[in-house]
Amino acid sequence: MTHPVVPAIVNLDVPGPVINRHLYGHFAEHLGRCVYGGFYVGEDSDLPNAGGIRLDVVAALRALDIPNLRWPGGCFADEYHWMDGIGPKERRPSMVNTHWGNVEENNHFGTHEFMELCELLGAEPYISGNVGSGTVREMSDWVEYLTRDGDSPMVRLRKANGREQPWRVRFWGLGNEAWGCGGHMRAEQYAAEARRYGTYCRDHGGNTLYRIAAGANGADYAWTETLMKQLGDLGCAYRPAPFMQALSFHYYTIPGTWQDKGAATVFDTDDHYRTMVQAARVDELITGHSNVMDCYDPGRNVGLVLDEWGTWWNVEPGTNPGFLYQQNTLRDALVASVHFDVFHRHAGRLVMANIAQTVNVLQAMILTDPDTGALVLTPTYHVFEMNKGHQDAASLRVDLPAGTPERAVGDARLATVSMSASRKDGRALFSLSNLDADEPAEVELDLRGGALTEVSARILTAGRLQDHNTPDAPGAVAPRPHQVTATRAGLRVHLPAGSFVTVTGRLAGTGSDT
Ligand code: AHR
Repeated sequence: MTHPVVPAIVNLDVPGPVINRHLYGHFAEHLGRCVYGGFYVGEDSDLPNAGGIRLDVVAALRALDIPNLRWPGGCFADEYHWMDGIGPKERRPSMVNTHWGNVEENNHFGTHEFMELCELLGAEPYISGNVGSGTVREMSDWVEYLTRDGDSPMVRLRKANGREQPWRVRFWGLGNEAWGCGGHMRAEQYAAEARRYGTYCRDHGGNTLYRIAAGANGADYAWTETLMKQLGDLGCAYRPAPFMQALSFHYYTIPGTWQDKGAATVFDTDDHYRTMVQAARVDELITGHSNVMDCYDPGRNVGLVLDEWGTWWNVEPGTNPGFLYQQNTLRDALVASVHFDVFHRHAGRLVMANIAQTVNVLQAMILTDPDTGALVLTPTYHVFEMNKGHQDAASLRVDLPAGTPERAVGDARLATVSMSASRKDGRALFSLSNLDADEPAEVELDLRGGALTEVSARILTAGRLQDHNTPDAPGAVAPRPHQVTATRAGLRVHLPAGSFVTVTGRLAGTGSDT
């Protein structure tokens, strides 16, 4: 049987923009069982924990080298009042989490617990401040509480709560989805708020903030244009105003309708292809926002941040609709791998991305059983792990002289083979996905400007795209070693239908270690 052969040319000695490690960022919201019951089980839990933080979750995530964690939302961020989450837990006031299930939030996981979690993970904190229902003073005080040294009202309060030294917090979000749950604002209105909030989020001592303005919903390029016009000086020498360093946008992969998004594990081949088309669309969106930004900021001083992405399915039957708990299959893994290929291609402008969300919510890395506490690593987790060598690596362009095999999906065309590559520390890493549900593919990697030694490969695939991991079958979808063939020009990589493969090797003869 002959499979489509896909020639791919990679110039190993022509490094492109560096892939910011923060493209592999994460997101933890006070939503369903992400924080409570996911990351945080409380000091009294039978599960091994440090100050209530679940240690097996930490260990699993440390293996991903997660670079940053966004918190406390999402929509929750714009109704969160940080002062309710400090001090002795028994004295912390409760609130109602009106966005997510109308459940009571006891504020036992607050600022100190989040910073402790980040320290355990070895991840940078990314805090989303409350613009929707908070005040400028509240946000300004939070920055002072976290980051100021010496003596000041907020420093004294922090010390009284047991933390002597300031923390380092670089990433600071000025609200979330201001066009929707963050206040239903118009772009001009939000830009004015962002100017005010960003101004009073001060750089204390050596802690320089990287302020991220709440950006567009999907393809709302007009929102991006408004922010670019109002948050910097215009003209060829565009400089972002000191109160904003980046802007974000959100994009979820939802092949169904908002009312009926489809089931995570029950789907057919057509649903799979529709999902892949929606996932690949992130390329069009990043290109669109980047193009708008390039008009105002050709020097690329403003960062583009995709701080929410991933699949969004109907909740699992029998679970709280407000908790957004969904299973995660090989299909989700391919959605992730396609996103990363796109992110790597846009490394010149895209500086951060955060999958939604890390534990028990939407496209999670980790699912925990609410009754037994059993922990399961999802297929998406494995993509993050297999791809982690791309973090802070120099991207390598992958040229496909004959294109890739394609499928017609409704009015769209889906390229069924997706690839990206990078080099770092004398090694190259290639990521290859075959999105086709039935047809294997062969990729002929034509490696120029160097050669590879000590080549090894791994594959993530399963009998069915619907396959997923459970406490009874935790390794149903897990990486395995894969054989690749050396050719005169480079390597031949076999990609079974519905598979994700990474290939790595030591660079020989490129005359450089980077
Ligand atoms: O990730 C779930 C929700 O999706 C977030 O709270 C919100 O920002 C987005 O609409």
